[in-house]
Amino acid sequence: MRAHEAGAMHGDIGDRGPGWLRPPADVNALVPQLWPRQVERGANGALTVAGLDVRELAAGYGTPAYVLDEDDLRSRARDFRAAFPDADVYYAGKAFLCRAVVRMIAEEGLHLDVCSGGELATALSAGMPAERIGFHGNNKSVAELTRALDAGVGRIILDSFTEIDRLTALARERGVRPGVLIRVTVGVEAHTHEFIATAHEDQKFGFSLAGGAAAAAAFTVIDEGVLDLRGLHSHIGSQIFDTSGFEVSARRVLALQAQIRDARGVELPELDLGGGFGIAYTTQDDPATPDELAKRLRKIVDSECAAENLAVPHLSIEPGRAIVGPAVFTLYTVGTVKDVDGLRTYVSVDGGMSDNIRTALYDASYSATLANRASTAEPMLARVVGKHCEAGDIVVKDEFLPADVQPGDLVAVPGTGAYCRSMASNYNHVPRPPVVAVRDGRARLIVRRETEEDLLALDVG
Ligand SMILES: Cc1ncc(COP(=O)(O)O)c(C=O)c1O
Repeated sequence: MRAHEAGAMHGDIGDRGPGWLRPPADVNALVPQLWPRQVERGANGALTVAGLDVRELAAGYGTPAYVLDEDDLRSRARDFRAAFPDADVYYAGKAFLCRAVVRMIAEEGLHLDVCSGGELATALSAGMPAERIGFHGNNKSVAELTRALDAGVGRIILDSFTEIDRLTALARERGVRPGVLIRVTVGVEAHTHEFIATAHEDQKFGFSLAGGAAAAAAFTVIDEGVLDLRGLHSHIGSQIFDTSGFEVSARRVLALQAQIRDARGVELPELDLGGGFGIAYTTQDDPATPDELAKRLRKIVDSECAAENLAVPHLSIEPGRAIVGPAVFTLYTVGTVKDVDGLRTYVSVDGGMSDNIRTALYDASYSATLANRASTAEPMLARVVGKHCEAGDIVVKDEFLPADVQPGDLVAVPGTGAYCRSMASNYNHVPRPPVVAVRDGRARLIVRRETEEDLLALDVG
């Protein structure tokens, strides 16, 4: 189902769910790949995270709340470090960023990508070493670039000729030589199990490879000699399970690398393959481990380099979702349960599209479970919806919940660490939920809940 512009009322309301969704043998069972590693259903039936009962979390911090299993996030970061020992792993901060997460990422030895002045400020204020920060974006302002240069950011990913001119002028003024990459639009778009390779690239990011802009950008930077061109960068999409898109993109980008070598005698020392590695949102998703990814990507780069007679460059990757996504679940309280004429049961929770826009925006699929107790009731196909004044305000399109789910129950939605809090809004003047990190049986507030006072504080008219 694609969310209809006019709301779900105009969509396929009679839909009985996707063909793959089957009533579970045990509606209380947790599917391990969907949940943070330390989430279990305790003997009393309630979920626990790192030993802490979610009912205690709900009582202490309220709902909705994002609950982060800190050791899960850290272990995913470590898994990427271990799988790519001689590459740099840049955590894509756009997935979710706050100071505590910056510190976790830094402590686990990762680098960090930011793509705005606000993300840069967050990273610097939490003590991320500037040389481990990469700065992305298709429209970085002079103020943002100045700040990045003054802070000594390790690399800036160039996205337009205007930006090359801007940064060159700023670097000249300051007498500095910042490291830069050129973002190449390789004509590969990958999402989930499919990728499309096209000859031209109609999108706002990067320099077109097919049109020759990417080569021209590299020649400009090399010929000016002001910026330190470290390498090429490509990012092909999101929620990718199939590495064949990376194969095509690596082939194209390394062909450009060879072209630059042949034209200017410069062999660029680095190559960034971007992020986009998929995670499990439903039982249908079976993501590769970082080890498997590393093996496949290494093989692709080695063979493409051999074909072009290039030395293998120093690699970097930029996973966001794959590090933070599975480490978080959102805890909601059920407010109403409504059976609509035998068509569908709507379970309304106390959040919605303001804390998870991905379902409405991308038609994303999620899973859910009853969190405060186990149930002996039959599985019932339900739709988990929010409290917003919008018919398309859907959190989980289709999920089996126990038929006795009732107001006051807690429902947990896993896989909400990436692009949920970071894309959260105040739609309907709903304050944004807190982020609570749990480790060793102890909870710690890392982002507090917004209050109505916060909302009114901005309203100065
Ligand atoms: C340049 C770049 N790198 C990395 C990422 C992270 O993607 P993901 O969180 O899917 O790994 C993105 C996401 O859009 C991106 O644009």
